[in-house]
Amino acid sequence: MDIYSVVDQRRSVRGFLADPVERDVIERVLSAACRAPSGGNLQPWHLYVLTGDPLRALVEKIRGRLTTGNGPDAAEYEIYPPKLASPYRDRRFRCGEMLHESLAIPRSDRAARERAMSRNFEFFGAPVGLFSYLDRAMGSAQWSDLGMYLQTVMLLLHAEGLGSCAQEAWSLYHRSVAEVVAPPEHLMLFCGMSIGYPDPDHPTAMVRTERAPLTDVSTFLGFVEQ
Ligand SMILES: Cc1cc2nc3c(=O)[nH]c(=O)nc-3n(C[C@H](O)[C@H](O)[C@H](O)COP(=O)(O)O)c2cc1C
Repeated sequence: MDIYSVVDQRRSVRGFLADPVERDVIERVLSAACRAPSGGNLQPWHLYVLTGDPLRALVEKIRGRLTTGNGPDAAEYEIYPPKLASPYRDRRFRCGEMLHESLAIPRSDRAARERAMSRNFEFFGAPVGLFSYLDRAMGSAQWSDLGMYLQTVMLLLHAEGLGSCAQEAWSLYHRSVAEVVAPPEHLMLFCGMSIGYPDPDHPTAMVRTERAPLTDVSTFLGFVEQ
């Protein structure tokens, strides 16, 4: 599989088969991804990987919180800026719209949208959950390093025939996650990730999110016109 195909075909998977994933495969991917670059080679990522009982215990915890109306934890970081302007707002809206269309959820059906959102906290049925943490002492440059690591992980998972979905949604319940994974106090949860074999028949499997054209997001200087 050439690298352009891997980058092009990777997508956020939101419907998984229950088939287990071997620890060896996850270890191979996570250790290969450690070749991701980081400023000053800080490698500021720390990972927790869950399957089986710990994963089920976490899913149950959040289900309990959702059914008793025990709302999210105090945020440790803002997932989006409070006033998201165009074009970012439009892109965010469009990606939600595509997802809801695939699930045949009308825009007016708020309860169904919330149910779809709550699937985040079941790892979309995936047998493996990964949590990525960053030392609280780190700054925005190191958040970007962690992002590079996570994209490398997701590309390698795809090359292994696995699907993934990065999930900032988990940061809303960082205390419940901490009760299960018991991170040291100096670590802060960035996001979760669902990992497993994609269900090809899941209605969201056909979603291919759009991208802004390169001309909207880049400026070339000094090149000779072709
Ligand atoms: C850091 C990060 C956090 C994300 N958090 C969530 C999430 O909480 N729930 C979700 O369903 N998708 C989440 N996504 C997936 C994005 O919505 C998705 O990457 C984007 O719409 C582009 O679609 P694609 O990944 O299928 O190409 C996240 C992606 C990233 C990179």
